[in-house]
Amino acid sequence: MAGFALSRLRRSLSATVLNALAVTDPFRSPAAGLYSAAVVGTAFLNLAPRFAGRRRTVTQSCIGTPKLELDTPILCIDLEVMDSNMQKMAEFIMSRGKQWRPHEKCHKTPAIALKQIAHGAIGVTCAKVSEAEVMAAAGIRDILIANMIVGRQKLERVAALCRHADPIVAVDHFAQAEPLAAKCRERGVNCRVIIEVDIGLNRVGCRPGVDTHELAKAIDGLEGVTLSGIMGYEGHLLTVADPVEKREKIEEAMSVLRHCRDRLLNDGMDCSIVSAGGTGSYQITSECDGITELQCGGGIFADPMYQVNMGVGGLDYALTVLATVVSRPALDRAVLDSGRKSQHPDFTKPLVKGHPGATVTHVSAEHCQVALEGDSRDLKIGDKVELIVGYADFTTVMHDCFYGFRGERLEVVWPIQGRGKLQ
Ligand SMILES: Cc1ncc(COP(=O)(O)O)c(C=O)c1O
Repeated sequence: MAGFALSRLRRSLSATVLNALAVTDPFRSPAAGLYSAAVVGTAFLNLAPRFAGRRRTVTQSCIGTPKLELDTPILCIDLEVMDSNMQKMAEFIMSRGKQWRPHEKCHKTPAIALKQIAHGAIGVTCAKVSEAEVMAAAGIRDILIANMIVGRQKLERVAALCRHADPIVAVDHFAQAEPLAAKCRERGVNCRVIIEVDIGLNRVGCRPGVDTHELAKAIDGLEGVTLSGIMGYEGHLLTVADPVEKREKIEEAMSVLRHCRDRLLNDGMDCSIVSAGGTGSYQITSECDGITELQCGGGIFADPMYQVNMGVGGLDYALTVLATVVSRPALDRAVLDSGRKSQHPDFTKPLVKGHPGATVTHVSAEHCQVALEGDSRDLKIGDKVELIVGYADFTTVMHDCFYGFRGERLEVVWPIQGRGKLQ
């Protein structure tokens, strides 16, 4: 019956659609083609995930291809540079007696998180329950959700996650901790909890001192959760220009966490985790007493935002968008096919790799304007150039996958599995 319906549907679809499917997927079996065609005919939106899988299959067949032969725009990782950045971060942090729990928001990709763990990371930091689920599905257990989890569905998901991983959830109020504990009790699981303390960022976070102490005591008495420590994020200090002042201010912020920890410990509570740090501060925060683990993640790509805006040294650019020169309207201007829909230029403009005379001046939806001086004026229509991504976090989420290159040859295509995981 279903077969009959499908064959009727197939007949009703134009030959053009079927031919297009045949062309785009060399591995298509007749049955798969029929199924896909049926879905095209009924609900195009439902096809999107299937197409995503299909595209992945096709792109894997590009492995071995030289970078400049690939179509654009695509998001490229220099694997050797990323690996060396990971190595340097891990060594820096561990040599100071701290642990590394990198935030995964710059990559949202289990394959990369597993590489960080291979370099010594103890687990990952996530912002969303859905991101944590992606990481847990890849076998990662020690997952900090460094965000406030509120709402029935999310609590249910956290409780379910506790059966497949060993998550930690950040809270800054009893009104988050109590329902989490209740849900965990109901489901017969236990979840680790840490208190986020406001160390000056003024985003979320419990006030240090009495408030944090009282919250800790309240959580400590809850069945279903285990108080495991505290965290704070010094995001407000990353761009302090003077390095001496930056160090002083970060040390001061970390001393707030230390005092909170001491109060908890003196009262017999567990505070074995004191988590802090971002890429823009990790070289300082790693050297602060009392901190047990660092959340810095983006340093694996070491975007200009970190190196230029935050003065982070010792790491190299690893993430680029490969683009094509599509227009040369003037001797001193080129236009590339990578606009705001494939890269985020607002915090820091992208840099043009290997062309010191080329400067990105304006990025609109589908176009990137580049001012040309010196040898970069030799760029012509059809040439490919690499834009060093200004800030990975907001760029990664626009792409289906990372293309990983060793030298100039494509070695891996990693689907960005956490893309679209917003809940
Ligand atoms: C809670 C938290 N931890 C750590 C970081 C630092 O992440 P990264 O090192 O990728 O900049 C951030 C950045 O926003 C954050 O919000």
